[in-house]
Amino acid sequence: MRTDTGQVFRLEDYRPSDWLIPRTSLTFRLDPDRTRVVAELTIERRAGVAVSTPLVLDGDGIALLAISVDGVPLEPGSYEATPQQLTIAAPPRARSFRLTIETETAPSANTALMGIYRSGGNYCTQCEAEGFRRITYFLDRPDVLSVYKVRIEARRAEAPLLLANGNPGPAGELADGWHFAEWFDPHPKPSYLFALVAGDLAEVADEFVTMSGRKVRLGIFVEHGKQDRAAYAMEALKRSMRWDEETFGREYDLDVFNIVAVSDFNMGAMENKGLNIFNDKYVLADRETATDADFANIEAIIAHEYFHNWTGNRITCRDWFQLCLKEGLTVFRDHEFSADERSRAVERIADVRTLRAHQFPEDQGPLAHPVRPRRYREINNFYTATVYEKGSEVVGMIRTILGAEDFRRGMDLYFERHDGEAATIEDFVKVFEDVSGRDLSQFSLWYHQAGTPNLMVSAAHDANAATLTLEIEQSVPPTPGESRKKAMHIPLAFGLVGADGNDIACSSVSGATVENGVIHLRKRRHVIRFEGLPERPAISLNRGFSAPVTIAFDQPLQERMLLARNDGDLFSRWQALTGLMSGALIEAAGAIRGRKAAKIAPELSQICLETVRSQALEPAYKALALTLPAEADIAREIGSNIDPDAILSARNLLAGVIATANADSFVSTYESLADTGGYSPDAASAGRRALRNVMLDYVTLATASPDIAARQYRGAGNMTDRAAALSVLTMRHPGSAEATEALADFEARFGNDPLVMDKWFQIQAIAPGDGAVDRVRALMTHPGFSLGNPNRVRSLIGTYTTANQTGFHRIDGAGYELLAEIALSVDPKNPQLSARLATAFRSWRSLEEARRERARATLSRIKAAPALSADLRDIVERTLA
Ligand code: ARG
Ligand code: ZN
Repeated sequence: MRTDTGQVFRLEDYRPSDWLIPRTSLTFRLDPDRTRVVAELTIERRAGVAVSTPLVLDGDGIALLAISVDGVPLEPGSYEATPQQLTIAAPPRARSFRLTIETETAPSANTALMGIYRSGGNYCTQCEAEGFRRITYFLDRPDVLSVYKVRIEARRAEAPLLLANGNPGPAGELADGWHFAEWFDPHPKPSYLFALVAGDLAEVADEFVTMSGRKVRLGIFVEHGKQDRAAYAMEALKRSMRWDEETFGREYDLDVFNIVAVSDFNMGAMENKGLNIFNDKYVLADRETATDADFANIEAIIAHEYFHNWTGNRITCRDWFQLCLKEGLTVFRDHEFSADERSRAVERIADVRTLRAHQFPEDQGPLAHPVRPRRYREINNFYTATVYEKGSEVVGMIRTILGAEDFRRGMDLYFERHDGEAATIEDFVKVFEDVSGRDLSQFSLWYHQAGTPNLMVSAAHDANAATLTLEIEQSVPPTPGESRKKAMHIPLAFGLVGADGNDIACSSVSGATVENGVIHLRKRRHVIRFEGLPERPAISLNRGFSAPVTIAFDQPLQERMLLARNDGDLFSRWQALTGLMSGALIEAAGAIRGRKAAKIAPELSQICLETVRSQALEPAYKALALTLPAEADIAREIGSNIDPDAILSARNLLAGVIATANADSFVSTYESLADTGGYSPDAASAGRRALRNVMLDYVTLATASPDIAARQYRGAGNMTDRAAALSVLTMRHPGSAEATEALADFEARFGNDPLVMDKWFQIQAIAPGDGAVDRVRALMTHPGFSLGNPNRVRSLIGTYTTANQTGFHRIDGAGYELLAEIALSVDPKNPQLSARLATAFRSWRSLEEARRERARATLSRIKAAPALSADLRDIVERTLA
């Protein structure tokens, strides 16, 4: 593994490369332990660069076997090769020359899953961000674009299938049972988009005809016997291709598009040109083995990687500081796709829940960084919710400010102006300024300034003058390295809701620019006056979550209830109800800690009932509305001095109150949504299952019996219903005969299917309380568990540390010690994974004192451990700083 040099990379230090590599030809001779790589690079000195400039190529753990320039082997003293670098002090004076390097690597020993490695007996690669330098010496930076020709040689018995980027070329037999295949990718690309797959996999083949009538051959490669489970992914791929043509005018540009599913993968998937490599979790699905959430994730990630072909591949990033240029934009595009394919309001609520659960705590803790960071030590630690999810919100705000039409014109200009280039965030913002004539310089702070802005809002109504005055003050809390913040341009969508639930218009507004239902906040403080309002309306703020901010607004309860019942903007209606729930939960948690009786207003249960009974609302919306804020959400809203046990008690109390008040009605809703046999993963069917399973939890609480859940488990016709029943049993009736029996049944059914067993681990990892530490320890010895596989680690350990607040934050610190132990044992093998695990500590400072001190002690212990990877050290040091 790369040794930690402690080096810091800074945006302001960016310089274009002195050398370019217009053409790259690679020959692989594959062997598990000794894979030979011959790289033939056309090296070109950039215009204006001095002839005396040395050539320095990146490496990472590479062994050099041979090196020549223009066919002539280099003299030993004329170059220096270390595992990390290849330096030619005095390269040829000619503007361009051919450098041939032969290196060797051992895929079977590669446990970091970066570079070329083995998964399930197959060879595969992962090069983003800096994995290509583990394959050969190269200018491994995204602004060096090269045209690749790849030849793969392998033993036919071991690897009948040979894939690389681009279009297929000649293939054939070689001596001694070997064979070869060649691939040519005409599109210049950075090295991080290189990919190779070789092995024995089954293909699901299809075809797509593009908008201009070109035929594209589509292939999804999976383990033999799992072809049927790739059907949904294939269908999602075709829908993504069509959508990008219809929505953004973007057509696919090669003769083939291949997707390979592998079972050892650090992230979700990777957009390598023409050869996407996926975590198999995001490809394989059928009714028996995948939940509706799995299907939705597959659709989103298939789309995400496909959309990268234009936003990421055709236009790539100049340097890794610009990561959000491709990631934020591509997340925005995949969210839009899902919203179009499913229900826009439901999608928006789900996306905002994800943002709040993952990005807000990041922004509010020690790992906060701008959407476009200015410095990093380990770039792998910047594939974050801030870069991805907040990055997507920033693109969404640009569309809100410009309107849909100018936004599309801006995107068209972006593609036209920067196709084939490695671009920056400045380039991206500029196209929208150019098409709209707007000044987005203040808006750009969203890319440069970290922290979640807060809006302090107060409202006053004057009945005589018929005016409503809104005072809004923005502030951005300090974040690491940024103590003073500038005022931001915040597009705040709003509505004024009358007593009948309809939006009302006002005759004029002053104090801020207001266009198309959006208030443009630009100053620290705005006093906004609405005229022509004889009665005080309910103020619906941040409709559709137009800006990723928090709002402190002491709004009268009656108004909030009116919005929770009637807001015409469904996102805001959901927000109003969720806000009421949060308020009740925070109050109850406080009362429980102070050993006082906690009271819950009866209206809350009533609004839940009305929501469930509504004829107008779709089931998926109802399911979201009836889902209480998660314990972590409540903790975040409380903000400091957190006691997870009190939060769990409060949450159970509120759930019990809502369940008991509505018992009859929830039972009949549950029954009316019964599974009638057919199964389809479409959004409407999934919504009905979601509502039914939310009802199952309430009904189980109301009856104080595991019977209904046990019955659902036994009769389940699909994984969504089965997993939901199992999770209700283990959460609500842990240790009961019914729970034990269902867990055993699940294991017996799916023991041979690791992806499905991940759900079994996950469900048990969530079960709250002090027993979780020992349960997790015991599950780690289960034969189906392995610290070597990222999916296993994430489902058991990741779930335990991020989704089990009481179990992880056990007051004696045993949970922290368990995580430290695991992170330290994973670290030497897979630093990306250990670093990711350690981010579970990021909110440690907001815990109550006893836990805080335990967390600090454990973090310090990790920090002091010998030989930490650069990845883990970076996370731990920033978390403690
Ligand atoms: N670009 C990939 C995506 O679609 C993520 C790859 C990140 N890989 C890594 N090793 N950090 O989002
Ligand atoms: Zn991506």
